[in-house]
Amino acid sequence: MNIAIFGTGNMASGLATLFAKAGHTITIASRDQDKARTVAAELGNNIASGSFADAAAAAEAVVLAVPYDAAADVIAAAGGLAGKTVIDITNPMTADFSGLSLGFTTSAAEEIQKIAPAAKVVKAFNTIFASVLQNDAKAGGQTATVFVAGDDAEARKSVVALAESAGFKGVETGGLASSRYLEPVAALNIALGYGLGYGTDIAPTWQGVA
Ligand SMILES: NC(=O)c1ccc[n+]([C@@H]2O[C@H](COP(=O)([O-])OP(=O)(O)OC[C@H]3O[C@@H](n4cnc5c(N)ncnc54)[C@H](OP(=O)(O)O)[C@@H]3O)[C@@H](O)[C@H]2O)c1
Repeated sequence: MNIAIFGTGNMASGLATLFAKAGHTITIASRDQDKARTVAAELGNNIASGSFADAAAAAEAVVLAVPYDAAADVIAAAGGLAGKTVIDITNPMTADFSGLSLGFTTSAAEEIQKIAPAAKVVKAFNTIFASVLQNDAKAGGQTATVFVAGDDAEARKSVVALAESAGFKGVETGGLASSRYLEPVAALNIALGYGLGYGTDIAPTWQGVA
């Protein structure tokens, strides 16, 4: 799969490496193209760099590995992402990480779908700590689960396949509105990892779901 990853931070770097090792074609994009070039060179694995617009133009899927509050800016910079599978990994945490900035009646993913109405937005990877990416999709020594929500069934299944190609277990959770459940799960994961001291070698899973 040809994938554009927007961002050069912890999640962007980890996903780029895992996906590239799984044989996908990866371009990292940033508002700072020098930074994108430097990070891509450091990551190796034939990872390319480019602008948001150029990376998205060639890609089937675009990963938003930027803060939720930056999503609108990067989507606009990329020209709207019409027709693309847009993988939303964001968690709309408050600045102090003590809670979510939205929920109950909407989710970050649904708000992003409103910003990019012609894109196929899929929520995924938001419950996976960056360190789990560096640990070959393992948390606590076990395969971590990626929960996948989206209204377009084909796009959703393609993201499950992408996650599984990178070594995760993929579990579909239904339409994009189920992101209203997935985003609080990530908030709980952060509370456990940082607030309660379990660290980041953890990931939520759902027993009994094959
Ligand atoms: N870290 C985790 O364990 C984790 C787990 C699950 C989900 N997430 C989610 O993944 C996303 C990325 O997290 P991260 O930990 O990778 O963050 P990070 O390391 O801080 O990287 C953030 C990236 O976003 C870019 N960015 C920030 N503001 C921007 C803007 N206004 N316009 C364009 N680009 C902007 C930054 O670019 P510059 O370098 O130019 O500032 C950087 O490349 C967040 O939404 C987070 O909630 C994180």
